[in-house]
Amino acid sequence: MEMAYILIYTVLLVAILSYLFRMKHKRKTHQMKLKLPPGSMGWPYVGETPQLYSQDPSLFFATKEKRYGEIFKTHILGCPCVMLASPEAARFVLVTQAHLFKPTYPRSKEKMIGPSALFFHQGEYHTRVRKMVLASFTPEAIKSLVPDIEKIVLSMLSAWDGHLITTFHAMKQLTFDVGVLTIFGSRIEERYKKELKKNYFVVDKGYNSFPTIFPGTLYKKAITARKELSRIFHEIINERRKEGETRKDLLGYFMDTKNEQGTQLLTDDQISDNIIGILFAAQDTTASVLTWIIKYLYDNQKLLEAVKEEQMAIYESNGCGSQPLTWGQTRSMALTHRVILESLRMASIISFTFREAVADVEYKGYLIPKGWKVMPLFRNIHHNPEFFSDPQKFDPSRFLASPKPNTFLPFGNGTHACPGNELAKLEMFIFIHHLVTKYRLEVFGSHNEVEYSPFPVPTRGLPAIFRSESNCNNDDNLRR
Ligand code: HEM
Ligand SMILES: *[C@@H]1O[C@H](CO)[C@@H](O)[C@H](O)[C@H]1NC(C)=O
Repeated sequence: MEMAYILIYTVLLVAILSYLFRMKHKRKTHQMKLKLPPGSMGWPYVGETPQLYSQDPSLFFATKEKRYGEIFKTHILGCPCVMLASPEAARFVLVTQAHLFKPTYPRSKEKMIGPSALFFHQGEYHTRVRKMVLASFTPEAIKSLVPDIEKIVLSMLSAWDGHLITTFHAMKQLTFDVGVLTIFGSRIEERYKKELKKNYFVVDKGYNSFPTIFPGTLYKKAITARKELSRIFHEIINERRKEGETRKDLLGYFMDTKNEQGTQLLTDDQISDNIIGILFAAQDTTASVLTWIIKYLYDNQKLLEAVKEEQMAIYESNGCGSQPLTWGQTRSMALTHRVILESLRMASIISFTFREAVADVEYKGYLIPKGWKVMPLFRNIHHNPEFFSDPQKFDPSRFLASPKPNTFLPFGNGTHACPGNELAKLEMFIFIHHLVTKYRLEVFGSHNEVEYSPFPVPTRGLPAIFRSESNCNNDDNLRR
């Protein structure tokens, strides 16, 4: 009897072991069939980081694509990495197989912004926060912001009138104020606005500085200012809680979204991290695109005249600005819209994004190993003559036809696509309207050098003077 048991056990054991062995072996041979993408890993430790930074980074990516095609491997910033330069690959990573690729950022940046900010996350928490953010940026929601954005734009423009400004820095003031407006609404107290701005710009300065433990450095100052921001957010949150009324701004959505037990879904600290996250995602991006738009318009005077004509028609129908701009009017600026799209393509300020493979992934017979970084290269796609003919030419008319799916991704695509894209465009429409109808541009040093801040901007942030001029033809109309 005992013998029989032992025999059965032995047979079972052998069967299981050989099954497991076969499985493992099969996985191995399957993996062995897959090869890594072409490309070179450079030197030990530094990889190809020196090559990346010894030239315009976009040249590095373009050269690689030319040599290896749509997928290649490299080693930069201490990480092995697969770069992808086709619409199909971008779709694979960002949309259809997004669950296999998680967001990844340097530790120091995560700490500075706040680890609970939505773009660091994947899965349920990300979905939850993203829903709240999307709810506060629907067309219906941003429609109501038009008058307040217009006020911000007008007061900024008149403050700059006739002064030599650094366009990029000026645009950052504008986009910061709009960011605060969308998060806290228009009723936020002036003293809060001032304190937020002061501290945020200290964080901003330290964000790209080298992390150190020494006091007095930009980094340390930024960490201190970051704490101060949290304190201010908590104060605002507590004040609102006392008031007890619901508001329709982003903070309102964060505070009023409850779980089944009726308690706030996000903790106050999670809210705080997400506020910084939104400010961070909204400010430099929009500011650098606005800076590029000004440069492209100034460099293409004929186009500037045409945009001016489109905007003057609206301006005059508003009694030369005596009536406010409407949402409907911002939807009717067809040429201006194409200029914005072409600027987004040309400048491709988000040149690429980062993900990390959470498992071994196969793409077109190549292995993307677990733990490797994965970078969809938006700029390469936007500058590929196969999708955009004569790609170095600034030509808004190419957007008379819609680009093919996943060939034009200035706002990304899929689970992490930009929730602020309509707001960003609205801001640009309103700004361009008032700029070209009331100001004459003078731009200095208009050559084609680029700086990284870390987004590409024209050299020295594009020094410029905007001078107010009277373009109103209403008096003529009255006389006629
Ligand atoms: C022209 C200006 C802007 C550009 C070019 C831009 C571009 C992008 C891109 C490409 C992504 C996706 C990144 C990725 O997949 O890794 C993104 C994400 C994001 N953007 Fe924007 N953005 C702009 C303005 C804004 C504004 C105004 C806001 C907020 C009001 C905003 C909020 C966000 C947030 C929160 C995310 C992360 C979404 C998530 O992870 O689910 N962006 N943006
Ligand atoms: C995002 O991907 C989907 C699915 O492939 C596609 O239908 C859509 O057009 C893409 N979006 C853009 C902006 O290309």
